[in-house]
Amino acid sequence: MKQASGNRTVPGLDNPLTEGPLQAGLEETHPGPVHGGLNVRELELLGLCPEEVLDFSASINPLGAAPEVMEALRSLPVCAYPDRSCLELRRALAAHLDIRPGSILVGNGSTELIHLIARAFLTPGDTAAVFSPTFGEYAAACRLSGVSPVSIRSQGKAQFQWDLTQALNLISGLKPSLVFVCNPNNPTGTYLSGEEVRQIAESLGGRGLLVLDEAYRSFVDKPWESQGLLRMGSVVLLRSMTKDYGLAGLRLGYMLASEEVLARVGRFQYSWSVNAAAQAAGMAALDHPRHLERGRRMASAGKAFLRSALDRMGLECVPSASNFLLIRVGEASRLRLELLKRCKLCVRDCASFGLPEHIRVCVRNLEDCRRLVRALKVVAATPENHE
Ligand SMILES: Cc1ncc(COP(=O)(O)O)c(C=O)c1O
Repeated sequence: MKQASGNRTVPGLDNPLTEGPLQAGLEETHPGPVHGGLNVRELELLGLCPEEVLDFSASINPLGAAPEVMEALRSLPVCAYPDRSCLELRRALAAHLDIRPGSILVGNGSTELIHLIARAFLTPGDTAAVFSPTFGEYAAACRLSGVSPVSIRSQGKAQFQWDLTQALNLISGLKPSLVFVCNPNNPTGTYLSGEEVRQIAESLGGRGLLVLDEAYRSFVDKPWESQGLLRMGSVVLLRSMTKDYGLAGLRLGYMLASEEVLARVGRFQYSWSVNAAAQAAGMAALDHPRHLERGRRMASAGKAFLRSALDRMGLECVPSASNFLLIRVGEASRLRLELLKRCKLCVRDCASFGLPEHIRVCVRNLEDCRRLVRALKVVAATPENHE
């Protein structure tokens, strides 16, 4: 295990292991929103290698990347610059989605697009709203544009369903330039209907833009058709190929919107932000759509297994339309650390969502899900994890 260099401390940053300040030399270099995924620095401190840890904290296709994608990457000419407009990939997406290539903007993950949208549509003094608790990048992107977004928050006692009447009234009154809705929502898994989303878009009264992040749509068993909303002109759809096709390390996402909105957003995108490997992987993935369907079915089966096992253990879990589950466990940060140290399993502690009693787990294959249940039985049985 590597030792921290010196014993200076870094004020304001917490060491995930000791809950005290971090030691100098191990500083966080990217203090943005908290996310799932393995934290190499934390694993180092625990004497663990990333390869030996089973990651339940990042919610992606349980099958990972398709073999055909890996094959396409092997023959990639890496010395040439990538196509700045991602033309071939946009054409492939257009055929796949039955939409025009001009209605698509590809990004270095959908996260890049969230930030570009905020830059293009917000200036200090504007208003933005975020349906929460949710993915931290929406608020972060708004703040980088000088806007502190209004949070429209759902409550655990209502199974994290929003009070829609209240939300619609709030939006009509606020007249925000941007509203962010994640559907299905991270971390709750709640899924708004097409009619509910349409009402949210209409409550903007033609003034602002609704950003509907559908990063997890592909894992919904029966998703409603959302592309029709684009006809309203005030709706943007965000999709994540990172999650659909297991390309988190490459980064790939896209947005669908009117050409006017895309032109405004595209002005802020730097040249070559989507690298050649991501573009090639995206095209190979679209050529093999059965991989995603198999991943969805696997996640669906794993979710049913996990839900009934958690139920038998008396652990409350929010009904989820997506490939992850939000579980009430008591002191989540401690449980997460115990799972990591004792069982080499990484789950997402939801304190950063304002849910310190919840963890979020991604649904992996059945064998991995069984391992998670066994580990939870051991670790969650520890008295301090119960209220
Ligand atoms: C709701 C949501 N949107 C977008 C992203 C980021 O996806 P990408 O890898 O495409 O940037 C995440 C990642 O966790 C997410 O949860």
